[in-house]
Amino acid sequence: MSTVPSTELRPDASNPDAATGAVLAQAARRRTFAVISHPDAGKSTLTEALALHARVIGQAGAVHGKAGRRGTVSDWMDMEKARGISITSAALQFEYRDAVVNLLDTPGHADFSEDTYRVLTAVDAAVMLIDAAKGLEAQTMKLFAVCRHRGIPVITVVNKWDRPGKDALELMDEVAQRTGLEPTPLTWPVGISGDFRGVLDRRDGTYRRFTRTAGGATIAPEETLTAAAAEAREGIDWTRAVEENELLDATEADHDQQRFLAGETTPVIFASAVSNFGVGALLDVLVDLAPPPPARPDADGVPRPLEASFSAFVFKVQSGMDAAHRDRLAYIRIASGVFERGMVVTHATTGRPFATKYAQHVFGRERESVDTAYPGDVVGLVNANALHVGDTLYAGTKVTFPPLTTFAPEHFAVMRGKDTAKFKQFRRGVGQLGSEGVAQVLRSDRRGDQAPVLAVVGPMQFEVAAHRMAQEFGAPVELDHLPYQIAVRTDAASAPAVAAARGVEVFEREDGELLALFMDKWDLRSLQQRSPELTLEPMVAAQLS
Ligand code: G4P
Repeated sequence: MSTVPSTELRPDASNPDAATGAVLAQAARRRTFAVISHPDAGKSTLTEALALHARVIGQAGAVHGKAGRRGTVSDWMDMEKARGISITSAALQFEYRDAVVNLLDTPGHADFSEDTYRVLTAVDAAVMLIDAAKGLEAQTMKLFAVCRHRGIPVITVVNKWDRPGKDALELMDEVAQRTGLEPTPLTWPVGISGDFRGVLDRRDGTYRRFTRTAGGATIAPEETLTAAAAEAREGIDWTRAVEENELLDATEADHDQQRFLAGETTPVIFASAVSNFGVGALLDVLVDLAPPPPARPDADGVPRPLEASFSAFVFKVQSGMDAAHRDRLAYIRIASGVFERGMVVTHATTGRPFATKYAQHVFGRERESVDTAYPGDVVGLVNANALHVGDTLYAGTKVTFPPLTTFAPEHFAVMRGKDTAKFKQFRRGVGQLGSEGVAQVLRSDRRGDQAPVLAVVGPMQFEVAAHRMAQEFGAPVELDHLPYQIAVRTDAASAPAVAAARGVEVFEREDGELLALFMDKWDLRSLQQRSPELTLEPMVAAQLS
């Protein structure tokens, strides 16, 4: 869903300097980010509130509702409908001040999967949303590990300050210790958690007092008071905030743009998404501090200039969104140049042309045609049967971007067709699910082609895979869970010795990578200690506590 008018400044092909200037100006306006959080921290609420602030929607709930709320879940799969969750991941685009904000959805409940991680390869910044009562939770830490690996800047939002929770200084310690990032609060709460009066704005010393609205359904009115007026109004709560602020000053916990962009510090704001407190402040932080799209390095490590001809990479592929049409959508993130619907681009993997007649913004069940898009933007391409996750598309000067990182799967199951007569359908389905990234598909001589192992980040991917094998490919399957928990990379030289160890199995993934599966980290450590010469490399993400 987009509110950005398609008639905005377009490049003029007859005037290359002006065209370059237009692309650079458009790229500089973009802020592309995702929210990383644990289920229930308030991500959907915050998304709605952000959209509301940007006035995309009139009332919270219309964009990205969950079951039971106003709005609707996307209903592309029966299973999704039954569970009231959204497996669909896409981007919400809106204008705020003079910026164009792209908020990429990170599916995060039972549907947590490799897709969730992969979205983070397509953003330039992340908002780490923390429940004030719970602090940093497991899923947040896993997603944070991907952000750290990519070195992208992270903005921290402490949410639910209207509810009793932890002490603010204690939370700052927790962030520092668990993430290694130095928190640099931009605002500081006035009133303890559960008694949220407003925030002290550390940048100018003023008091931002919030007023509740009924159910948080409209933008919370915000009043700015001087320090003296704040003290008169809030008394001891204001004084405490000022004292704590002096403590922060003394530890030099002040925002430093260079250190933030380098992934060393994290600006923090305090919020109550459900009441829309702090949401406008977050948008301002995104626009003022989060980086615009950088030049993306190609497979040789050479950055592709933003103003070069069009290029993009596929970060997500999704089939079966529309049961009537069985369409396959590829989501691309634009890296350089201008995208114009209808342009014919080159698919770098095959060298074949790809026509972009159907290009859409997709968010939840909303779909809307995209006519023009710029670096940082996300476009859903319809009928993208040839496109796979990680593929590059370009026009003009050739480019190939490096493959996207694959993430450490934590759940493993053997998949077998229930009906041996349907082996052809079975094989086609397995290939398709693998290429979409629904699961990593592992094979070994020992288990044979009829019994590949699916490796996933979140166990719900097994259900998605089984459902689609039966419904879409006509090959019902059964899944036998395997007791492995850890996958590490190995190589051809080490594989025989690794496979000979007790409780370990070695597989080949579809891209040729060799993976060794272990039951637990002690088995892995003990083999590493016994045979340090063996190649046993951890994969990216996220065995953090
Ligand atoms: P998620 O997408 O991260 O899973 O979280 P979601 O927004 O669904 O929020 C989880 C629950 O937390 C919701 O309550 C939501 O209303 C509540 N919540 C979100 N932000 C805040 C906040 O700032 N303060 C308080 N007090 N609550 C907040 P629910 O009862 O599960 O659902 P609902 O019936 O309210 O929608």
